[in-house]
Amino acid sequence: MTIRLEAPPAAASAGRPGGGVALVGAGPGDPELLTVKALRLIRAADVLLADNLVSPEILRLAGPQTRLVRVGKTGHGPSWRQADINALIVQHALLGRRVVRLKGGDPSIFGRAGEEIEACRAAGVPVEIVPGITSAQGAAASLTLSLTHRDHARRVQFVTAHDRDGVVPADLSWTDLADPAVTTVVYMPRRTLADLAHRALEAGLDPATPAVAVVSATRPDERIVRGCIADIAERLALEGGEGPAIVLIGRAMACDEADLLKGARERAAAPVAATAGRAR
Ligand SMILES: C[S@@+](CC[C@H](N)C(=O)[O-])C[C@H]1O[C@@H](n2cnc3c(N)ncnc32)[C@H](O)[C@@H]1O
Repeated sequence: MTIRLEAPPAAASAGRPGGGVALVGAGPGDPELLTVKALRLIRAADVLLADNLVSPEILRLAGPQTRLVRVGKTGHGPSWRQADINALIVQHALLGRRVVRLKGGDPSIFGRAGEEIEACRAAGVPVEIVPGITSAQGAAASLTLSLTHRDHARRVQFVTAHDRDGVVPADLSWTDLADPAVTTVVYMPRRTLADLAHRALEAGLDPATPAVAVVSATRPDERIVRGCIADIAERLALEGGEGPAIVLIGRAMACDEADLLKGARERAAAPVAATAGRAR
């Protein structure tokens, strides 16, 4: 996709005071999960540069003066280049506009925020982060489960399931992935989950470890796919629907305390086709 900037760099660099950039977290989708600060900035923005993940309900909160630009990236198909997004953010700010760069979830979790901050700093543009609820937290809330658990998960780790080449990152720590006392949250799992799960099993993770995929967490079309690490990739593929998905793995992701003790092993033994696609 070719991106046309609105004015040549010479006009932009003339600049005028007042412009600035806020990297704002839009949360996982439910507008009620926006922070008060995010809402205030969205309403006051001159320019809103929004990811594909930002829900339409949230975009409708923008003020009448706000110019909306969708700068979405998709794993496949046409996408905005990060360099063009950086340039557009800086350009609008140098023209004295209040720029809100609106990102799904939290801007600092797998959101390329570092590159956008760097571009702003290099151009002398003031930039701030307004945190949002990351999809891991939205998904855990939908499941009514705690990401940590005094007996079952002493820490939480967020991992991406693919690197810039679209494969499982070579430098993931498989020892950490196989830790029985961790909750692992896998972002962007759709294409490589089977490989990631296979390697975690090879590293020694118990095949019966509970795993839950939450698709479109906190949105009206939310779906929940339950399984264990040995079969969650197959179950998620069988679910077949669209929407962003996140996978939570670990003993703390069993349905409830009783399930923590006994249920996960039974689910692991059940044939996938018998239970796949059932919501909740
Ligand atoms: C580029 S990352 C951005 C993560 C985002 N900054 C966050 O904090 O949630 C995109 C991935 O986030 C996850 N994601 C974002 N919103 C989601 C939602 N509502 N439900 C499930 N997963 C979501 C998916 O794994 C998706 O592929």
